Amino acid sequence: MAGALLEVDGLTKRFGGFMALNRVTIHVNPGERFGLIGPNGSGKTTLINCVSGSLPADGGRIVFEGHDITSMPAHRRTRLGIVRSFQIPKPFRSMTVLENLGIPLENAAHGRAAEGAGAMEILGTIGLASKAHLRPAGLTQIEMRKLELARAMAARPKLLISDEAMAGLSSAEVDDILTILFRLSAQGITIIMIEHIMRAVMRFSERIVVLDAGERIAEGTPDEIGRNPAVEKAYLGE
Ligand SMILES: Nc1ncnc2c1ncn2[C@@H]1O[C@H](COP(=O)(O)OP(=O)(O)OP(=O)(O)O)[C@@H](O)[C@H]1O
Ligand SMILES: [Mg+2]
Repeated sequence: MAGALLEVDGLTKRFGGFMALNRVTIHVNPGERFGLIGPNGSGKTTLINCVSGSLPADGGRIVFEGHDITSMPAHRRTRLGIVRSFQIPKPFRSMTVLENLGIPLENAAHGRAAEGAGAMEILGTIGLASKAHLRPAGLTQIEMRKLELARAMAARPKLLISDEAMAGLSSAEVDDILTILFRLSAQGITIIMIEHIMRAVMRFSERIVVLDAGERIAEGTPDEIGRNPAVEKAYLGE
């Protein structure tokens, strides 16, 4: 597709003899809110690991803004603007919330994006400003998730990949994270949301791709995905 921000074409990833991703293709457009769903173990995080560069692909091609990044080291992909948040938050425990934004901000300043919001401004956008001087141990679960998003924002993403930022949160907290992600989207950031909370993905996404056992089984609008029998079958098998 011409003009896609991210093109993943025929991506294959094996762990030993196990095929975790089998020729998966996804294209994400600039500014899009994109949902990536699928049952546990379907390959969502593996796909993100290959896109961010933390795992090498075994086959296929990954193109970002027209550059082939298939073999590019992870830190260079980050500098191009591909930033992911982790399913399990990994803040620096000995640093305050504010200090946790320092390293990604510094890295971004050495690369593409010297200009942009400062650490306090990012914490404000994410709703964590009042916790700036706490250490991660003093945060609630949702505040930890927000810190993970704030650290991702400090790396100045063009493409933000959110891997299960909402797992284990209450319904009101899910809405809180959704509001933040909509706000980041409105700032022009392209977002891939990986999420098991169907209500949230359906509300957020303009387009959704479904993985099952390492294969892409469906793509469509939330409405189309909601009515797709193959998707229902994949989730029933869980
Ligand atoms: N480093 C690894 N070594 C071996 N197998 C792995 C590795 N990482 C993932 N897998 C396997 O690959 C498959 C896909 O895992 P992945 O974590 O990508 O799934 P997922 O869709 O993110 O699942 P979840 O919704 O539970 O987070 C699983 O069967 C998993 O056990
Ligand atoms: Mg996962």
